[in-house]
Amino acid sequence: MTQITKRNHLIVNVNGENIHVSGEAAFQPLAQFLRNTLNKPGTKVVCAEGDCGACSVVTSTLRSDGWTPLRTINSCIAPVYLFDHSCIITVEGMKHAESLSEVQNKMREFHGGQCGFCTPGMVCSMAQLAEDCKADGAEITEKKARNYLTGNLCRCTGYEPILKAATNLDLNKWELLSKRYLTSEVTAKFQSHLSEPLEILSENKKLSIPTTLSEALQIKAANPAVRLVAGATDLGVLINKAKTSLHEILVLSKIPGVHAVSGSAAGMLIGAMASLTDVENFVKSAHPELKRLLHIFASPQIKNQGTLLGNILNGSPIGDSIPPLMALDAEIQFQSVRGTRSVKLKDYYKAYKVFDKADDEVATGLFVPALKSGFVHRYFKVSLRKDLDISAVTFAAVMKIENKTISEARVCMGGVGPTVVRMPQVEALMNGQSFSENTFATAGALASSLIKPLSDLRASSEYRHLVTENLFKKCFHELDAEVLSALEAVCP
Ligand code: FES
Ligand code: FES
Repeated sequence: MTQITKRNHLIVNVNGENIHVSGEAAFQPLAQFLRNTLNKPGTKVVCAEGDCGACSVVTSTLRSDGWTPLRTINSCIAPVYLFDHSCIITVEGMKHAESLSEVQNKMREFHGGQCGFCTPGMVCSMAQLAEDCKADGAEITEKKARNYLTGNLCRCTGYEPILKAATNLDLNKWELLSKRYLTSEVTAKFQSHLSEPLEILSENKKLSIPTTLSEALQIKAANPAVRLVAGATDLGVLINKAKTSLHEILVLSKIPGVHAVSGSAAGMLIGAMASLTDVENFVKSAHPELKRLLHIFASPQIKNQGTLLGNILNGSPIGDSIPPLMALDAEIQFQSVRGTRSVKLKDYYKAYKVFDKADDEVATGLFVPALKSGFVHRYFKVSLRKDLDISAVTFAAVMKIENKTISEARVCMGGVGPTVVRMPQVEALMNGQSFSENTFATAGALASSLIKPLSDLRASSEYRHLVTENLFKKCFHELDAEVLSALEAVCP
């Protein structure tokens, strides 16, 4: 049998320079690596937990089907090992020859920085804005600028001059980063190593990045304790705050198909490594309500790096994506050397962080059945701020309404107990009832009586009870017009 040679180093390109990374450096957070190992201190670290965007850099990865779109990520929580075959562009890489880029010039002209700590991150997010708008031939509006800068916090300048800098960018003066950095030379260099599996060792750590699913399953079967890492947006925080450390790591990123999101008449299949941004883009027209929720799920940097499957598998009781996907009856697809298995989300969460998952299983995708005709749905996230905040309570309802009667209800809530819950008693109460405010008010009262929420930093138990009742009423009022217009379409 021929032995496959495993590469023992990463190949990355930082601001146009190819670099090999091996040993302990591969396990560092990217921001630390850029600042301390590569001596590029433009990238700042403030919160070290993915909240402020000071550490933003722009990245693109070469896969077998080409380069991924350039996207900003938070480098403080992303380990270097996730960037094999990636171009990383830091604030130092924005300027061209000896002149500042258009983004940097406009930040200077409009006095977009005072202490300057947030400025490199702002520049990177604004560069992404310029890049996308120029590539799409789109205009930079204030709304667009605000969306791109949602993940960048400034504590001293105030946002007005920063937004002025963004909206006054002259795209004719913006030289596309993709042209400057994703060159044919870099592509050729990366391509010659694309199909190589990786195994990187440091003193007490081992990283495996296989190129086939069967190899990944064998690694997991041989060592069930090995930790699967996808976007690391959750794990990176735990590692930085010294709440966890990983010794054996398995990454699926080189396995064909894991980043894909695809659709059919039956539903949507989301690969294990599909980013939240990819899913958000995919559901834009097919499932606008899910898109609306994903829009406020997190900052662009987190959505560019984090995966939907990661959010689901972590199983936080306030995981934003779980209630709608549970209400849509989504199921996780698992594979192991023993075979394949699907688990519906409603059955996956057994107790706080206790899941229906065997140690040797690897989640390879999530299947979300298509919403059938006659069904309506609403998803709500209640948090202190609209953007960039952790939920206090989440709510999802998917219902079939026939002749103003609820014939099938699926209701799920998060933030009201140790796991996201589906509410069969509430569903039983609603099924067969008229679609009316009274039905929803009664269902809300029952739901509130069934939940046992905690009081914590985000909300008190009393508030969560009250908001539960109110969300049912909100759901009715939001759906009322939709149900009426559907009825009018059938009986004009
Ligand atoms: Fe705040 Fe990275 S330092 S997001
Ligand atoms: Fe000081 Fe933004 S310029 S934090």
